[in-house]
Amino acid sequence: MGTASIFDEVPDIYKNRDVLSHRFIPDELPHRDREIRELASYLKHALKGYTPPNLLILGHTGTGKTVTVKKVLNELAKVAGNIVDISYVIANGTPFQVLNDIAYELNPQVNFRGISFKEAWNRFKKILSKEKVTIVVLDEVDKMLFHGSDLLYFLSREEKICTIALSNKINVMDLINDKRVLSSFNPIKIVFPKYNAIQLQDILQYRAKMAFYEGVLDEEVIPLCASLAALEREGDARYALDLLLYAGDEAIRQGSNKVTAQHVKIARRKVEEDFIKQSILNLSLVQKFLLLAVLRNEGASPREIYSICNEYLLKYRGETLSHRRLSSLLSDLELYGFVIYVRRGRGRGMGTAWQIYLNDTLDRKIVEEALKESILKDL
Ligand SMILES: Nc1ncnc2c1ncn2[C@@H]1O[C@H](COP(=O)(O)OP(=O)(O)OP(=O)(O)O)[C@@H](O)[C@H]1O
Ligand SMILES: [Mg+2]
Repeated sequence: MGTASIFDEVPDIYKNRDVLSHRFIPDELPHRDREIRELASYLKHALKGYTPPNLLILGHTGTGKTVTVKKVLNELAKVAGNIVDISYVIANGTPFQVLNDIAYELNPQVNFRGISFKEAWNRFKKILSKEKVTIVVLDEVDKMLFHGSDLLYFLSREEKICTIALSNKINVMDLINDKRVLSSFNPIKIVFPKYNAIQLQDILQYRAKMAFYEGVLDEEVIPLCASLAALEREGDARYALDLLLYAGDEAIRQGSNKVTAQHVKIARRKVEEDFIKQSILNLSLVQKFLLLAVLRNEGASPREIYSICNEYLLKYRGETLSHRRLSSLLSDLELYGFVIYVRRGRGRGMGTAWQIYLNDTLDRKIVEEALKESILKDL
């Protein structure tokens, strides 16, 4: 009795669990020396009051683009004193919304409500200080370009603004079809290569040393997380770190003082589950209904899927959509990797028919659960 607490029983394996979070910016970034040096070489101009060239940082998801840019800009801010302003945003929204976010980072007092983009731009220019170089970081820029590229046009025509755009869509420039924009936004490209298993081990090793007490990780744990990330997720460091974190939490849940390969295997399933859930959450309600229709009728034709989806829509929303609209939404589901189209010959002279299946890599039970859960939230 007395001081005993329910928490006494819980194993203590973490020195600092936050180190494994996505938000943490480590002091060292193994295997990114070249990229750091290259970024620094361009951004150094800002220290002399010159505007650095616009940059486009490309690379597969989890190659360290965000963390590397943030790290270099933190260092720049330390030495730049009063001559550089930095505005980092995740460019998830229309050019107007993104401009609003950029402005907010520079001056929380600005308010663009109820005005046009052009007016907002004029107000934005007024908050820029004439003597300073302003560095604008548009992370995940593809999300904005999907809505429009005007902002890139205005930013790149402005003196004293350096735009750094980041994307994991290698062909992101194809999203810009406005010639005006293409001719004024002509960035230097820096491509971040994928990590291999050995490099991922170094990255994990470094973070694990800060995160866990010594001797907590079985020796096969880091190599396993690294090789799973290399083999199954094209070297995604975020996935590797997630595996390690989930494995640690799973060990604790089981009351174990050691993290083992067995915990990593359970972690793998949980990370997968979270990933599917998150991707489904990001779909529109109609797409969720389409996916549910496919899941419950695998092998059906697109037409059949549209009808079933319309039944759901009618029942829960009191409306239906044209096949044409549904067809484009279903193609998006293929693009995102949720469904596949399989071609079936109907015999000589009968043309071909398509059948829709859920992507083989997806666990059907997880998809069904996640769909039900998130559709309920929408209704
Ligand atoms: N070289 C590295 N050293 C230490 N940690 C790293 C390294 N590279 C990536 N990470 C970590 O891996 C995770 C993913 O990195 P980051 O978010 O920078 O990827 P990204 O390239 O921006 O991916 P996305 O395209 O999905 O945005 C982060 O937690 C980051 O801290
Ligand atoms: Mg990123």
